[in-house]
Amino acid sequence: MTKSTQPTEAAIPEWLSRTLDDKSPGPKIYRWTTDDVHPAGDVPKPAPTAATRSTDDKQKRIYVLGLGNLGRLFAASLAQLPNRPPITLVVHRPGLLEQWRANPGVVLHPPSYLDGKEDSTNDSSRITAFDVEMWSETPPPSHLDAISSVEIADIGNLVIATKAQDALRTADWLRRYLGSESAVAFAQNGMNKLWPPYGAIYNKARYADVSNPPMWLACIVTHGVFSLGPFASVHAAPADVVLGAVDEDSSFAGRGQEAYLVQQILAASQLKARWAQRHELWVLQLEKLVVNAVINPLTAILRCKNGALFIRDKMADDGLTRIIDQLLEEASAVLRALALHEIKTGSIFGQPSPESSAALVERLSFASLRAMVYRVGELVKDNNSSMLQDAVAGKKTEVGEFNGWIVEMARYLKSVGATDGKTIDVTANQAMVDLVGKAVPLSEKELVEYFSR
Ligand SMILES: NC(=O)c1ccc[n+]([C@@H]2O[C@H](COP(=O)([O-])OP(=O)(O)OC[C@H]3O[C@@H](n4cnc5c(N)ncnc54)[C@H](OP(=O)(O)O)[C@@H]3O)[C@@H](O)[C@H]2O)c1
Repeated sequence: MTKSTQPTEAAIPEWLSRTLDDKSPGPKIYRWTTDDVHPAGDVPKPAPTAATRSTDDKQKRIYVLGLGNLGRLFAASLAQLPNRPPITLVVHRPGLLEQWRANPGVVLHPPSYLDGKEDSTNDSSRITAFDVEMWSETPPPSHLDAISSVEIADIGNLVIATKAQDALRTADWLRRYLGSESAVAFAQNGMNKLWPPYGAIYNKARYADVSNPPMWLACIVTHGVFSLGPFASVHAAPADVVLGAVDEDSSFAGRGQEAYLVQQILAASQLKARWAQRHELWVLQLEKLVVNAVINPLTAILRCKNGALFIRDKMADDGLTRIIDQLLEEASAVLRALALHEIKTGSIFGQPSPESSAALVERLSFASLRAMVYRVGELVKDNNSSMLQDAVAGKKTEVGEFNGWIVEMARYLKSVGATDGKTIDVTANQAMVDLVGKAVPLSEKELVEYFSR
């Protein structure tokens, strides 16, 4: 019997109900360039406006939105293509345009920078051949009499390299300029929001009037990049990217790899990207989510390096190991129920054989996920997790997208009857959301006491 995939209203996540409530076509957005933030008296020649760009440029231009670590990695890697596409870096603060104007260029230092052998003022890795724009709902003051000339054009190719909580919100903000001719690659950790079960509901709400939604792509990035300040990062741990289509839309089936943006990402050798089929991409993103849902919040709460979570004997019965196990038990229960539900009702797996279904459930078992988390934990033991860095810097973290997603999915699965009427226990994951949200560091003893209440 086919089960429903429609969640009850109470199980619809807040971001989706906000989208469903807002039927507007999206705001008009205007481009600011460095010419719009020039010091008084210094008026350089204006850059060509989007309206005057050639059709070929419009089809090939790649917008990289979010100029943090991954934005710099994607921009620098795409800029090194032998037949490089035109690239526009999109920022959201006037200060960044000013900074670019004063000192233009993206710098991505190689790993050797960490040995201290590279002179930090060495400019050999500075790449300046980009257009830089700030996108805003406010037009630049110097163009108030001709604002249509600074409205952004339809977007053909977009890489969104913000943190996870900003990614779909930003794509949604840009919806007026996205359509069936657009390809959008998301480069965040966490499960992309456009996967089932909510992607189709979102597409229907936003793109029902056009022939198709954009081609939604997800990138699973294992490179390690950290920031040295605006537009400068260290490519500390070169690794790879797995890229694939999230959307099940049939018009893209089988031709995702032929899309211009995909071709460029696959050709950028520094990214070491490979294409994955939808079902493989989905499972890989789930597995990476589990690693992030264990290592990130615990290191942020305990303010420790990744390795401190795993230095103990993994068979030992200590409090922190039990918390890690509880997080993994809960994640495994949710992921297995989701995989089985997807196999029965969804589009990701088609008609899998009983053997491949069993293999998937085994891959998402507690034992497999535990072995994977400990394996990755050993590899990244000397690193500070990104959530630890964000917590220390007082920034918003991605915990809602990692552990919060697991909690949200448990609610969804119950609402569609995929849990045999039971509630999947996700209290440890909810505790991670609460504790990281409070931003108060705890000692290991305090954390264990919190869990034994
Ligand atoms: N760094 C890594 O090694 C790595 C590896 C694998 C995966 N990831 C994942 O990749 C994602 C990005 O990580 P990251 O390290 O690159 O983060 P990041 O350095 O914080 O970069 C995100 C950038 O996006 C900008 N931004 C936010 N909203 C924007 C908007 N509306 N328009 C334009 N720019 C906007 C932010 O600017 P403000 O800060 O000024 O708001 C920031 O510069 C995260 O999900 C992370 O978990 C990172």
